[in-house]
Amino acid sequence: MLETKDEKINELYLWALKHNILITKDAIEYILYKGIDLNKVKNILTKKEPGFLEVKELEELENPEKKEVEILPATSSFLAKNYEGKVKRVWEFNTDFESKTSVENFLNYFRDRYNKIRSLLLQRQGIRNVVSIEKLTSYKINEEVSLIVSIREKHDRGKGDLKFLIEDDTGEILAFVDENIYDVAKNIVEDDVVAFKGKLNGSKKYFIIKEVFYPDIPIPTNESIAHTKEPLTAAFLSDLHFGSAQFIEKAMQRFFKWLYSGDDYAKRLKYLFILGDNVDGVGIYPDQEKELLMHNIYDQYKAFEEFLLKIPEHIEVIIIPGNHDAVRLAEPQPILPKKYLEEAHNLKNLHFETNPAMVNIHGFDGEKGINVLLYHGYSFNALIDTLTDIRKVARDKPTIVMKEILKRRHLAPIYGSTLLAPKEIDNHVIDIIPDIFASGDLHSHDVSNYKGVTLISASTWQAQTSFQDRVGHVANPGKLTLVDLQMRKTKVIDLLG
Ligand SMILES: [Fe+2]
Repeated sequence: MLETKDEKINELYLWALKHNILITKDAIEYILYKGIDLNKVKNILTKKEPGFLEVKELEELENPEKKEVEILPATSSFLAKNYEGKVKRVWEFNTDFESKTSVENFLNYFRDRYNKIRSLLLQRQGIRNVVSIEKLTSYKINEEVSLIVSIREKHDRGKGDLKFLIEDDTGEILAFVDENIYDVAKNIVEDDVVAFKGKLNGSKKYFIIKEVFYPDIPIPTNESIAHTKEPLTAAFLSDLHFGSAQFIEKAMQRFFKWLYSGDDYAKRLKYLFILGDNVDGVGIYPDQEKELLMHNIYDQYKAFEEFLLKIPEHIEVIIIPGNHDAVRLAEPQPILPKKYLEEAHNLKNLHFETNPAMVNIHGFDGEKGINVLLYHGYSFNALIDTLTDIRKVARDKPTIVMKEILKRRHLAPIYGSTLLAPKEIDNHVIDIIPDIFASGDLHSHDVSNYKGVTLISASTWQAQTSFQDRVGHVANPGKLTLVDLQMRKTKVIDLLG
């Protein structure tokens, strides 16, 4: 039994033991003598391998940042300094709450989604003889037709037994899936808008689905792959969680160390994307206060702002909010407000954007630039849980779910998978094919490519939290994702390696 009356340090001692770390007696005396913030000690413990916590590790805690910052050179040969940057907002959202939730605007929202995705489906090859549900019965039993429908209900009894209640703007009908395409059709989720090729059954009461089409994106051509003429790069970060006791200070220090290292990608870095959960927030989940280093939202944003202000001004930084940020949860989430980041808002190279957002970078005269789709990723959880084929793997390899999103041309296919501002238009339809699609939220890390689109699930600067322990997610922090915008190739740096 620990010989101290300090309940808090006793609690920390027991917490450490549970994680197979013994805080030595000397270390406890040192903490008490120096009055070290216990949240800071916990921050060290969360990143430690099982073993002992000794005094020397606490001594390093006293001023760790200073040590690494001193390594930074005062000047450097940034090649990107020679080139102008350009960031243009492609999607313009009105993020005010204009209308109240009503049956009417709910119906208009679905109508809007249906119409937008219908027009994308009509651009696809292979979908012929498109008819409405209302006109269906005037066709012969064996005549092959296509329907463009919204999935109202899905009934999957497994082993090839799958049916949908489908609707368009003229009516609804029950549709049975041909056994041969069960494995494809079982991935359709409620609220998806898809095309079905098939025919009526003998009684003309049901539709038999023979083929499924998502709007998807076309196979790329050499011309459709966008590049910058100049040899510039972009970097992607997410879920920094400033203010959390699990914030990994070392990742930030290493980021600056890399930036000033003379690394080829660092010298050419022109665009930095930060994909939400910039701070840990306050009151986001039960008992969160136990895992906070900073209990005040203004302090958290101050720390985030200090980080932003250290980024050299020749780098254009694009920042969106996430579900931990101090803006409303309903999407599109507004830009981070000036009241938390006053100084940062005045800087020309910092661009605050909505979540989701589509921006075009480096689109100078004569160059189409590169379209980057940014979405924090809240809706991905519901899609991962619903799609049985990807459920076990997509949290470690989130670009798998990002491909599903692109196939559907919709950022939140399942209604209710994220909160929505009550609007009569659907702001999650991906009407423009991005060149890069980047997200975060899962605290995992993954990079891949889908039909020419670079997919990035950006890593985090927060170590595993007890909340993630409880829900069984495993964080993969400290990875920095880089894209060579001229060559369109990617590279990953392990900041904690
Ligand atoms: Fe996060």
